[in-house]
Amino acid sequence: MFEEIPIVMIRELGYIYPNGTEALKKINLNIFKGELVGIMGKNGAGKTSLIRTLNGLIRPTQGNVYIDNENISSKSIATLSKKVGIIFQNPFHQLFANSVEEEIKFSLKSFNLSKEEIQLRTDQILHKFDLEKYKKRSPLNLSGGESKKLAVASIICRDPEILVFDEPTLGQDAKEIEFFINLIKNERENGKTIIIITHNIEFAYEYLSRTILMADGQIISDGPTKEVLKNEFLIRQTSLILPQIRQFYLALQERGFQEVDAIMSKNDMVNYLKKIIKNTSS
Ligand SMILES: Nc1ncnc2c1ncn2[C@@H]1O[C@H](COP(=O)(O)OP(=O)(O)OP(=O)(O)O)[C@@H](O)[C@H]1O
Ligand SMILES: [Mg+2]
Repeated sequence: MFEEIPIVMIRELGYIYPNGTEALKKINLNIFKGELVGIMGKNGAGKTSLIRTLNGLIRPTQGNVYIDNENISSKSIATLSKKVGIIFQNPFHQLFANSVEEEIKFSLKSFNLSKEEIQLRTDQILHKFDLEKYKKRSPLNLSGGESKKLAVASIICRDPEILVFDEPTLGQDAKEIEFFINLIKNERENGKTIIIITHNIEFAYEYLSRTILMADGQIISDGPTKEVLKNEFLIRQTSLILPQIRQFYLALQERGFQEVDAIMSKNDMVNYLKKIIKNTSS
């Protein structure tokens, strides 16, 4: 399904912040075109630092990052940002224009488009994100969820090949999460590669086929989400909060109910209970 050469290739990557904090240690990683990958791990594990190396916001102190088989060390942030769009944890760190409309226009500035084209694309994207009604409003006067949406819109309008989201579901209500899920489905259908940092294990289990677990600046596990997340030792090590359904299953197990493969979703639990009921009634 995937092309041979990874779209993101990271080799022996290390990063030490100027204050001496070693945030990344010997990271080796391949991500292929069209993949939807999750990065999980406890606070301070190095997740945000890792993705900041993808568009040159921080430059490796060791090792290399390749995008589309090219070493990015000599490429500017402006060039890389056209290929790699990062939506950060706190939207206010990336919003600075005087109005919602200006925010999108600014984002399109470096694309050599005519004034009319910029206006057209801005109107389209504001419509897509249901932000037209706030067009003239300052981004500072949006709600948390709305500002996150604007931050996403200001990156999506640039149509980057690789999309990176840092904690997209944090603080979002059910409707906003649904909007986001549809958005990533759409972007994937358009062939985009998507990387999502999340602490939300239920979200990862349901939507992300591959998960990378990080701890202390290193990758400690990388594989199919269902495999990675059923490892109790790793889950504890990375301080992830288990879904309630999984906690319920573990409680059943402690009380002597038979062991089965990982139960992470409601569906898994329903099938498991059906099996138990069938066994006890036969
Ligand atoms: N600008 C900075 N200067 C110095 N140290 C930093 C800086 N940013 C992050 N760090 C440190 O680097 C390490 C990795 O931080 P990073 O932000 O990458 O973690 P994270 O996995 O994204 O955590 P979280 O889940 O809390 O967002 C931490 O020890 C952190 O304190
Ligand atoms: Mg972070």
